Amino acid sequence: MAEPSCKKCQDSGFVFKEIDGITYSIPCSCQDTEKFTFLLQSAGIPEIYKNRCNFDNFQVIKDNSSIKEAYEVAKKYAEEYPAFEKGKPNGLLFMGPCGVGKTHLAVAILNEIMFKKKSPAKFVDLNELYREIRASYGNKDFSEYEILSPIADSELLLIDELGCVSSLWAQDTLLYIITQRYNKSLPTLLTTNYSDDAQGKEDSLIERIGTRCRSRLYEMCRTVIINGDDFRKRKKF
Ligand SMILES: Nc1ncnc2c1ncn2[C@@H]1O[C@H](COP(=O)(O)OP(=O)(O)O)[C@@H](O)[C@H]1O
Ligand SMILES: [Mg+2]
Ligand SMILES: [Zn+2]
Repeated sequence: MAEPSCKKCQDSGFVFKEIDGITYSIPCSCQDTEKFTFLLQSAGIPEIYKNRCNFDNFQVIKDNSSIKEAYEVAKKYAEEYPAFEKGKPNGLLFMGPCGVGKTHLAVAILNEIMFKKKSPAKFVDLNELYREIRASYGNKDFSEYEILSPIADSELLLIDELGCVSSLWAQDTLLYIITQRYNKSLPTLLTTNYSDDAQGKEDSLIERIGTRCRSRLYEMCRTVIINGDDFRKRKKF
């Protein structure tokens, strides 16, 4: 194999830095960081995920095939972006219980696309978005439309926590975003704790987001199911 041109990061583009016992991956100085820094700032990824969710620090847990498959699908998606197969979904819907790495993998895709392809992306936490819209009511300088249109039009969008609010108003707002993106064939990544075949008292995804929205997402996204235990619990042992 050829010598890496950067000895610091072995051409991965990232170096690891430990602060207060937590390992962060940060862009290596060899890279043209300016554009990436700008894209990263514009993406709106929350601090807790921003510098911590990469493919390099994602552990592919051996005894869990769904995690391995999800990792491979996510990695391939980032590598091939923005080339999509005609007639196939150009988005991913990560589905599974809390703490299995859905947001980690989705943010890893965003980071990789911004860093390697220098292509823009946006992170939207649905809980946050709903709060922001409610706060815009009664504020004549800032309308709901002004909040929603940059999200609906974003080149690549990650919607985190799909189904977190299930009121009719929340479903309508979501359907607006999804429909806009569907009509323009814009790639969308999503994560959800709700599944299509809910058991017992739990709601299914359809019950949370509505039939029309779920049906659009079937066309827009490949569903990536992850099962397993909460990684945060696993880490303690
Ligand atoms: N396979 C993994 N390797 C490394 N860290 C992981 C893995 N899975 C989850 N994590 C970490 O555990 C925490 C919870 O994961 P997260 O992606 O937020 O879960 P969720 O599926 O609820 O979105 C995060 O800090 C994430 O970085
Ligand atoms: Mg999450
Ligand atoms: Zn380097």
